[in-house]
Amino acid sequence: MASAAAAAAAALLLFFHLQLLLLLPAPSGAQPGFISLDCGGAHDHADAIGIQWTSDASFVTGGQTAQLLVQNGLQSQQFTTVRYFPADNRKYCYTMNVRNRTRYLVRATFLYGNFDNSNVYPKFDISLGASPWSTIVINDATTPVVEEAIILAAAPTLSVCLSNASTGQPFISTLELRQFNGSLYYTTDEARFFLALSARINFGAESNDSVRYPDDPFDRIWESDSVRRANYLVDVAPGTERISTTKPIFVSVNEEPPEKVMQTAVVGQDGSLNYRLDLEGFPANAWGVSYFAEIEDLAPNETRKFKLEVPGMPALSKPTVDVEENAQGKYRLYEPGYTNLSLPFVFSFGFKKTNDSSKGPILNALEIYKYVQITMGSQDAIIMASMVSRYSQASWAQEGGDPCLPASWSWVQCSSEYAPRVFSITLSGKNITGSIPVELTKLSGLVELRLDGNSFSGQIPDFSECRNLQYIHLENNQLTGELPPSLGDLPNLKELYVQNNKLSGQVPKSLSKRSIILNFSGNSALHIVNNAISHTIAIICVVIGAIMLLGAAIGCYFFTCRRKKKPYEDTVVIAAPAKKLGSYFSEVATESAHRFSLSEIEDATDKFERRIGSGGFGIVYYGKLTDGREIAVKLLTNDSYQGIREFLNEVTLLSRIHHRHLVTFLGYSQQDGKNILVYEFMHNGTLKEHLRGAADEKITSWLKRLEIAEDAAKGIEYLHTGCSPTIIHRDLKSSNILLDKNMRAKVADFGLSKPAVDGSHVSSIVRGTVGYLDPEYYISQQLTEKSDIYSFGVIYWSSSQATSQSQMTTLGSTAVTLLHGLDHTLRAVTSTPSLIHLWTEGTTCSQCGRLRRWP
Ligand SMILES: *[C@@H]1O[C@H](CO)[C@@H](O)[C@H](O)[C@H]1NC(C)=O
Ligand SMILES: *[C@@H]1O[C@H](CO)[C@@H](O)[C@H](O)[C@H]1NC(C)=O
Ligand SMILES: *[C@@H]1O[C@H](CO)[C@@H](O)[C@H](O)[C@H]1NC(C)=O
Ligand SMILES: *[C@@H]1O[C@H](CO)[C@@H](O)[C@H](O)[C@H]1NC(C)=O
Ligand SMILES: *[C@@H]1O[C@H](CO)[C@@H](O)[C@H](O)[C@H]1NC(C)=O
Ligand SMILES: *[C@@H]1O[C@H](CO)[C@@H](O)[C@H](O)[C@H]1NC(C)=O
Ligand SMILES: *[C@@H]1O[C@H](CO)[C@@H](O)[C@H](O)[C@H]1NC(C)=O
Ligand SMILES: *[C@@H]1O[C@H](CO)[C@@H](O)[C@H](O)[C@H]1NC(C)=O
Ligand SMILES: *[C@@H]1O[C@H](CO)[C@@H](O)[C@H](O)[C@H]1NC(C)=O
Repeated sequence: MASAAAAAAAALLLFFHLQLLLLLPAPSGAQPGFISLDCGGAHDHADAIGIQWTSDASFVTGGQTAQLLVQNGLQSQQFTTVRYFPADNRKYCYTMNVRNRTRYLVRATFLYGNFDNSNVYPKFDISLGASPWSTIVINDATTPVVEEAIILAAAPTLSVCLSNASTGQPFISTLELRQFNGSLYYTTDEARFFLALSARINFGAESNDSVRYPDDPFDRIWESDSVRRANYLVDVAPGTERISTTKPIFVSVNEEPPEKVMQTAVVGQDGSLNYRLDLEGFPANAWGVSYFAEIEDLAPNETRKFKLEVPGMPALSKPTVDVEENAQGKYRLYEPGYTNLSLPFVFSFGFKKTNDSSKGPILNALEIYKYVQITMGSQDAIIMASMVSRYSQASWAQEGGDPCLPASWSWVQCSSEYAPRVFSITLSGKNITGSIPVELTKLSGLVELRLDGNSFSGQIPDFSECRNLQYIHLENNQLTGELPPSLGDLPNLKELYVQNNKLSGQVPKSLSKRSIILNFSGNSALHIVNNAISHTIAIICVVIGAIMLLGAAIGCYFFTCRRKKKPYEDTVVIAAPAKKLGSYFSEVATESAHRFSLSEIEDATDKFERRIGSGGFGIVYYGKLTDGREIAVKLLTNDSYQGIREFLNEVTLLSRIHHRHLVTFLGYSQQDGKNILVYEFMHNGTLKEHLRGAADEKITSWLKRLEIAEDAAKGIEYLHTGCSPTIIHRDLKSSNILLDKNMRAKVADFGLSKPAVDGSHVSSIVRGTVGYLDPEYYISQQLTEKSDIYSFGVIYWSSSQATSQSQMTTLGSTAVTLLHGLDHTLRAVTSTPSLIHLWTEGTTCSQCGRLRRWP
């Protein structure tokens, strides 16, 4: 609701002149519209300013409570305890009831206080519903980290979740919810963005104390400008003076800054006000508003007119502020601002008086928020919420938040698309009774359903909407009725386990005709129709995981051909007519990895004649297949793999990965104790050779180097974001970046990659190559995608020899995005290219000053 007068004064400025409302006194006692959770606290209590705190126990499941061991002595009761959670792949959510379509301020605080007696400062993520909100980085035991956001509720509950700990354990001290009344914080795209607080400053404050409830009925915290912190309100202009008044200030609606905040201000007696502050998480788009009120009594011949000055943004200086005129009087609020402004990390701003003004500028208060994208949650969120609402007593049903994001529920796996779908549900042995929840039949992305070992009763519902279902485990329940024939129409069904239920009738023809694994033993009243098929083809075999299917099928094939052993009654039926077996094989083979015979490999490589490289895990040989394709054969050293299972896991992983900038995996061989991986042959060898090689093959073109860096970045990005779960390469270096005939780069040797469960860290024995190893990983032993990005940064700097920021910006967008994820460690290093040189040579870093602890 912009008033016409204000809009005329400055087209770019935004005005919220809302209807005049009577200022209502702050409510006393418990605050309506407030939720104030004392996390880990056992008792309800009121604090010094009258806020009622309640224990968080009924808002969250899981976690443990702890007392702080270190305090600075000034903390109120709600800051004496925390609730903390395991550092695993899960998320831990607080769920609070809200009013749909209402704006809320959400504030979470984190005061470490060495609660775990380990003095390891935690680092973890918080999210609002499915949307990443912030990364909490604790830097000191006695200073609370505070995060605030303003969000329009879009559902009857709002959840705040903790997840993805990269150091220490996630914890929380307090969680507060404050309901807004009006529309001061209305923004044009509230369905897509929420506001995260960056700065809310009370200028001219009379003490270091912030102003909050009850002065502010919504309990916003207006921070004093006299507090001294690093890079907070520095570069203050000479002539800046603090002024204050006791006269009432007219603020038109009660969502605007409280009177106490508006009663103080700074003025620039020499004609200007200047400040500089760091905006955490910027550059970003911001919502920023300044609050002015004339609180000095100016003589009739005096004026106060000024303009905003932001270096590099001359357009902002067009409108002139004349507080008295704009606010239509003294002691009245005027609040111009920008609803969408792109701001840098280091934000310098000021106000400068105009030539015809007799007084310098004034500033009473300021708010800056960052726009944070609202992540669309899982497409199945509503279905899943309805399903878990049936089990209000079960802890697995209380995990809260979105089923998939930012981490999925512990018993759910989701696809990695933009709005993920649930593809796997594992509720084995959860003591669940009643019928199978009908919601499950609505999950159209479902591939795997495991409900075995419960007490499910009633009939098996109709799963025909779940066209992707491949694995159904309903064994060891109390299910009755017949097997629905529609199960046989599921086009992708591979396994159906229903043994040990109370099913009856006959196995539908639609199922017995199919090439699937069906175990229906232990259902005394259930019979198979066509005995002929089951007697000739029924095969006993044990199946471990999807990739083993091929191995299992081969095993079974030989088994039947050579032995024709009489099968167990009703146990496993691979009900495939003999002539169809061949096509069944090729189907399995094409969707998993190709298996070469050892003799094929020996022929192709001339008995491992030409060695073309070696890595930590094996030796690479050149080969040529009978069809003319050139291959690179990696013969793994025997101690690289513990056994068949690990090897096949790797093969499964490799066969899932296809990308133009990743070296193509062609297949594997496992015979006579040799574990072999077969890749496409890359004609131009490794990037390393071209960076350090003989002059004629050295790449000198700057653009060519950029192209290579960008290619590699795309490959790495795919490993990180295109695969679910995420894959971390762990050993990126210039000798693992290969060049094809056309000198385009592909990333190689991701055979050692381990999938990162749900994108979070994987703890494992540190390995990698000295020089490329992320020191943070080395110290924490926590593996994240950042470790790859670190290594990529090293490759990038060493290959591009970029020495300036401007060269860096000419890099392709994927590489820039990747490098954007870099943390301080690398930034510190990249500012010293010569240091990088040392690192890439693999030299120890004893000369490297602050990096000395790095080996
Ligand atoms: C919340 O409000 C929005 C808009 O009015 C509506 O689309 C949505 O269905 C509501 N959600 C619930 C759960 O009531
Ligand atoms: C919100 O507005 C209602 C009246 O519309 C008022 O009673 C209530 O006190 C307001 N809440 C706050 C925190 O100001
Ligand atoms: C405000 O806090 C700073 C430290 O942040 C301290 O040096 C200063 O004395 C305090 N001022 C007042 C008025 O308390
Ligand atoms: C305003 O008038 C007073 C005298 O009434 C004079 O002292 C002062 O200099 C004048 N200020 C300006 C800016 O003209
Ligand atoms: C802000 O502006 C940018 C660029 O003009 C646009 O992409 C973005 O969506 C806008 N944000 C909001 C919240 O309107
Ligand atoms: C104000 O005065 C200065 C110096 O006298 C001049 O450079 C500037 O252009 C003037 N600004 C305006 C807006 O007239
Ligand atoms: C299973 O659930 C029943 C109630 O439905 C309960 O009595 C029993 O203790 C539960 N068993 C386990 C192992 O949780
Ligand atoms: C089939 O079910 C029976 C009974 O639980 C079990 O003994 C047998 O091992 C199962 N077969 C397979 C291959 O899982
Ligand atoms: C987990 O944290 C790491 C490091 O803080 C970050 O790079 C990664 O994106 C986070 N993962 C998710 C799923 O948010």
